[in-house]
Amino acid sequence: MRHILIVGIGSGNPEHMTMQAINALNRADVLFIATKGANKVELADIRREIVERYVTNPRTRTVEYAVPVRDTADRTYGESVDDWHAAITGIYGQLFSGELADDGTGAFLVWGDPMLYDSTIRIIERVKDAGEVAFDYSVIPGITSLQALCASHRIPLNLVGKPVEITTGRRLAGTFPQHNETVAVMLDGVQAFSRIDDPEAMIYWGAYLGTVDEIVISGNLLEKKQQILETRARAREKHGWIMDIYLLRKGEDFDD
Ligand SMILES: C[S@@+](CC[C@H](N)C(=O)[O-])C[C@H]1O[C@@H](n2cnc3c(N)ncnc32)[C@H](O)[C@@H]1O
Repeated sequence: MRHILIVGIGSGNPEHMTMQAINALNRADVLFIATKGANKVELADIRREIVERYVTNPRTRTVEYAVPVRDTADRTYGESVDDWHAAITGIYGQLFSGELADDGTGAFLVWGDPMLYDSTIRIIERVKDAGEVAFDYSVIPGITSLQALCASHRIPLNLVGKPVEITTGRRLAGTFPQHNETVAVMLDGVQAFSRIDDPEAMIYWGAYLGTVDEIVISGNLLEKKQQILETRARAREKHGWIMDIYLLRKGEDFDD
């Protein structure tokens, strides 16, 4: 039966690759590499660099495929994501039947870890449910951008014995600091931190983590807000794209 490996490749630094991930790529007959829109060309380049650096199996070949752009017109966010996943499900099905022998192994190189704000696992489940091509799959973990952020700032993720919430920019307003003292925010296209006016909040922000362009800024939120907004805008302008993540925190260890 065909086998699909969903491999976490880390979040920007090729040295995030684990031995397990390297061995998985070398087990594959085909590596499926997503080429997104032109402004995400760097992400495809990092995947290609990983393949060049770590794949030594001469029988492993690469197949690049285009991910369709998510259509947001005339539909809710949920509908838009669902339609987008359906389109990718069709593409994956075709890749598996067209590019893999009946007993072939294919691998997806997933940014960070496949369990964190990534839909590869759900889409692979959809392909399986569609039942048009028989296969099984495994997941290989990777270093997330959240781990990279904490490492670069040299901070533990949680306060001692306290919970952490991971959320998106769209949902931040309803959560910090009312519900949790530590909130990690990903996928924030609106800089939701700029609307928080808590004088005790700290921010730990990072962009392009793990890459040569990495930028990190930390400090009191109200004091650093403007600097982060300006730095972010300049970097986005320079590179044409940005990926950033941050942690907001109130309080100290042992202060309850
Ligand atoms: C679709 S999610 C993918 C997350 C990924 N699966 C992970 O494990 O980190 C993309 C978001 O992850 C964060 N991200 C991923 N890589 C990053 C990096 N190198 N630097 C900063 N943020 C990053 C950003 O918040 C970005 O909007």
